Amino acid sequence: MTASQNTSQCTPAESRRRILITAGPTHEPIDAVRFIGNRSSGRVGSALADEAARRGWDVTLLLGPASILPTFSTVRVIRFRTVSDLQQLLREHVPAADVLVMAAAVADYRPKVDPAFFGGKFRRKSENLMLELEPTPDLLAQVASGRRSDQLMVGFALEPRDEVLESARAKLVRKKIDMVVGNPLETMDAETIEATVLTTDGGEYKTPGTMTKPQFAPWLLTLIEAQAAARQSRTA
Ligand code: CTP
Repeated sequence: MTASQNTSQCTPAESRRRILITAGPTHEPIDAVRFIGNRSSGRVGSALADEAARRGWDVTLLLGPASILPTFSTVRVIRFRTVSDLQQLLREHVPAADVLVMAAAVADYRPKVDPAFFGGKFRRKSENLMLELEPTPDLLAQVASGRRSDQLMVGFALEPRDEVLESARAKLVRKKIDMVVGNPLETMDAETIEATVLTTDGGEYKTPGTMTKPQFAPWLLTLIEAQAAARQSRTA
């Protein structure tokens, strides 16, 4: 760790503000060998975790099956694989958090696994195979519905470019959260990002053009910190 990475250790742990970040994809098993997943790289969540640690936050990163890891040793990394794993981890860690940032690409559907195959392996047959999917719970909407008024909740919306704003606005209302980071679909698995952030108080913030994901993290965290401070002072 370098001197500049040591900031968080200068502040006593109990007085540091806590941020909980989720990142990466979920993998939903079909059988013991195969899964349904998505192309999330976990880059944004990981960069955000590093930036928050650099600014002295107490950071917990719930990270799915992604290969990109935060570089700060002070970031507490806890791994998940499935939507159910993440749901359980959120139950455990949200109560202690001041801010939740849901950057994870959570599967909307998962295979309805036949218990006879769970832990085993489907064998090749010559006929077609039907896979039944069931919807997963909306984790962010769930935690937001039971949150304390001093907690700030941030979601992401990955959408076709011409639907980003409308869809991000709808998610802000539907999930009852405070901020939505809207991105065009091209952001997925890419090195760069171009975002529009919407807040419940009517704010609309656009990135100054396309940024790399490490450049984007400080830009977004500054917005999050301002919203978190405003929420704290309203509820103090
Ligand atoms: N999310 C979640 N639980 C899910 C699906 C998504 O918590 N089952 C969170 C994501 O982490 C993200 C936000 O909700 O912060 C928006 O995710 P997105 O997949 O864009 O939206 P959905 O709610 O799934 O709606 P739609 O599929 O209609 O776009």
